[in-house]
Amino acid sequence: MFLHLHLQAYADMLGKKRMLVDSSFRLLVSVGFLLFPVVISQIPLGSKLSVVESNYWTSSNGKFAIGFLNRSGRYSVGIRFSSNSIPAGQQMVVWVAGGDLTVGDESYFQLTQYGDLVLYDSVKGANAWTSNSTKLSVASAVLLDSGNFVLLNIKREIVWQSFDTPTDTLLPGQNLSGFQMLRASSRNAVSSYYSLQIGNSGQLQLRWESNFTYWTSGNSSHSILRAVLSSDGTLQLLDQRSEVIWSVSGEDHNDSDVKLRFLRLDVDGNLRLYSWVDESRSWRPVWLAVENQCDVFATCDLHGICMFNASGFPVCKCPFRPANESNSKCVLPYKQDCQSGSFMTIHEHTIMSGLYPPDGRIIQSSLQKCKRLCLEDPLCTAVTFMNDGTTECRITRTRYVTGQSNPFLSSISFVRSCSDPVAALPLPPTSSASFQDDSKRANRVCIACLVGIASGTFVVLFLIQVGFGFYIYKRRKFSRRKGVLAYTGPNATDLITLSFSEIKDITGNFQNQIGPKMFKGMLPNSRSVAVKDMKTAIEGRKFRSAVLKIGSIYHKNLVQLEGYCCETDHRFLVYEYAMNGSLARCIEDPKLCKRLTWGRRMQICLAVARGICYLHTECREFFSHGNLKSQNVVLDENFDAKVSEFGLGKLHGEASNSCGTAEADISDFGKVVLSLVTGRPEADDVGVWAYEKWVQGQAEELVDRRIDNGVDSEELERALRIAFWCLQVDEQMRPSMGEVVKVLEGLAVDPPPPPFVCRRAELEANESSTSEIELQIPNNI
Ligand SMILES: *[C@@H]1O[C@H](CO)[C@@H](O)[C@H](O)[C@H]1NC(C)=O
Ligand SMILES: *[C@@H]1O[C@H](CO)[C@@H](O)[C@H](O)[C@H]1NC(C)=O
Ligand SMILES: *[C@@H]1O[C@H](CO)[C@@H](O)[C@H](O)[C@H]1NC(C)=O
Repeated sequence: MFLHLHLQAYADMLGKKRMLVDSSFRLLVSVGFLLFPVVISQIPLGSKLSVVESNYWTSSNGKFAIGFLNRSGRYSVGIRFSSNSIPAGQQMVVWVAGGDLTVGDESYFQLTQYGDLVLYDSVKGANAWTSNSTKLSVASAVLLDSGNFVLLNIKREIVWQSFDTPTDTLLPGQNLSGFQMLRASSRNAVSSYYSLQIGNSGQLQLRWESNFTYWTSGNSSHSILRAVLSSDGTLQLLDQRSEVIWSVSGEDHNDSDVKLRFLRLDVDGNLRLYSWVDESRSWRPVWLAVENQCDVFATCDLHGICMFNASGFPVCKCPFRPANESNSKCVLPYKQDCQSGSFMTIHEHTIMSGLYPPDGRIIQSSLQKCKRLCLEDPLCTAVTFMNDGTTECRITRTRYVTGQSNPFLSSISFVRSCSDPVAALPLPPTSSASFQDDSKRANRVCIACLVGIASGTFVVLFLIQVGFGFYIYKRRKFSRRKGVLAYTGPNATDLITLSFSEIKDITGNFQNQIGPKMFKGMLPNSRSVAVKDMKTAIEGRKFRSAVLKIGSIYHKNLVQLEGYCCETDHRFLVYEYAMNGSLARCIEDPKLCKRLTWGRRMQICLAVARGICYLHTECREFFSHGNLKSQNVVLDENFDAKVSEFGLGKLHGEASNSCGTAEADISDFGKVVLSLVTGRPEADDVGVWAYEKWVQGQAEELVDRRIDNGVDSEELERALRIAFWCLQVDEQMRPSMGEVVKVLEGLAVDPPPPPFVCRRAELEANESSTSEIELQIPNNI
């Protein structure tokens, strides 16, 4: 196959290009009888690479090639190792045009007649990337033996080079100067947070996001100019006079048998130096920056605390709450709205820091005071007392945390939990048994206690019911007549049940319609409610069980179910009432819409995202919304948004897996965001129009003109990006709702690819020959 392609390419070139190409055009035959790819060391103006032809240019030593790389159905132009001694799966990518940029399957990469390198995206129908070199009198291009792709002028001077825009890799001879950085390649839709750069102090630094430095090289100095990887495998920091100020070498740096090396900031945030080992035909890490992977900040991201398992491998575990494989995110148990107070569980030998937002505070205190400070702060979720000779107390106020645990750490952490029995399961400290055991034990305890409570409650309730049933029946009749309903607070078991005639009473015989099949009503205690006529024939028992599940969900961004009616063929739901009605209505109404300032709109986006995220990830059973749209988002008197009518698929008698998916909710959320930005109702063509405008750099034109006081252009960009990510036709490209929340809270997000093309299946059917395979990153070396 390969051979055929190469011969084909060779024949094509002989046919078409012989006139253009000078004597540097040659055919290499390697020592064996393998035919090596055709090499054009000089690439003339007008030359082109395309996805369809899957052609590429190689360096004259045959060690590197530049061409299209298949990145799960999309394409990038990049440079990779291509020596014939390196098997396809090990041909590491060392540079990508435009970082993480990907394009469609009919795209091409061309050195134009004007001396510009352009990457044309067939999906956008526009250039996605260019080298901006039209003014540099470019005469040709060459992929040098070092892996540096350069543009040359007529005097053969380098006027542009790929080495100046590094991605995640540094090759021998390549400089990393003060204004450049390596960034680990991204996972999912979100840019990697890990970068390597030269800090102001003149040290090499590994950073998480822009501010958290978790590794620095050597002593600081004011005169650092650049870092460079030498050909013998030494990473050096050099000053203006090219004197070495700091250096580090791989274990094989003196080994002249090693021909190929590279330094890469890996996806896991660790910086490693790799050497090619001919005998094993594989890349071997010969140096790494952070010895203990658990010291890489946020190495577990949202998946808990980093620790080492019995075999010495770092693993991520969630010691606070039994994690479930279907829900692998780890969040702290404490929620602000816990009703019956809170308590702290101790986790010895553990350090914790907040993530998303990383807003930790550091205070000097004693151990006991540290713990107390947290209990007194309504937002505090956990604290760490460093106990390392300092009296540092780190206060965390987010439910997303990172950290590590190991017996050599002296620090002591306290994790806060709500005292109410369902929300918090006090687990034994992490220092004992492994997490797996903990979770099993916790489950056993919980099941036992739940069974106990449940059966006890059942017996008691049964007795009460038998004994007082008649009395209750009488009393209800009586109280209804007097217009007094027993109303208790919102609690799953306290959902009020109403008869159909009570529904008629509280809604004034359905006088005040506030939405489709939705009526305003007033409880006898003067509390307003919204009453939804479900118009469904679902069997009473199933209806009640579904209602109880929905009623057990509390979140400040979800409308609370307060009661229901299930009588003969009448099915109603009674919700808390939101004064400003639905978001759709507010957007439509010229007066109300004036009150939806830009800031409020962004708050609404975040509130809706948080509500849906809660449904998707934090309920005891997976819930999707199934019908998210601006009609189903309501605004209270302060314009705080709550999502309404979630989980109703279950009430229409649909099997639980057919009432919508998380992916569908995410796409619907994208439409709600666009509706908020543009002030138009949700429709598919709004997305297409918005994306076109955004691509053309005219995002401001999308904004609802009725918004006073302008918009924050950074927030606008963020909102549009996340909306287009959510609207990806390819469901696998959509972010999770948790990621959406993080982005809306301020996390950086990559520009989205065009949302409305779905060619994955097509692409998978005709796999390109240029494929990229990731190196297996060793867990510990
Ligand atoms: C690296 O920097 C040095 C000093 O500025 C320079 O001489 C050298 O050409 C640079 N190397 C590359 C590949 O740009
Ligand atoms: C590297 O090799 C040379 C000779 O091959 C030897 O003299 C030198 O000591 C070696 N250096 C190190 C650090 O091993
Ligand atoms: C984890 O989730 C799956 C599917 O949602 C469920 O079947 C399983 O019982 C859960 N396991 C635990 C330990 O909660």
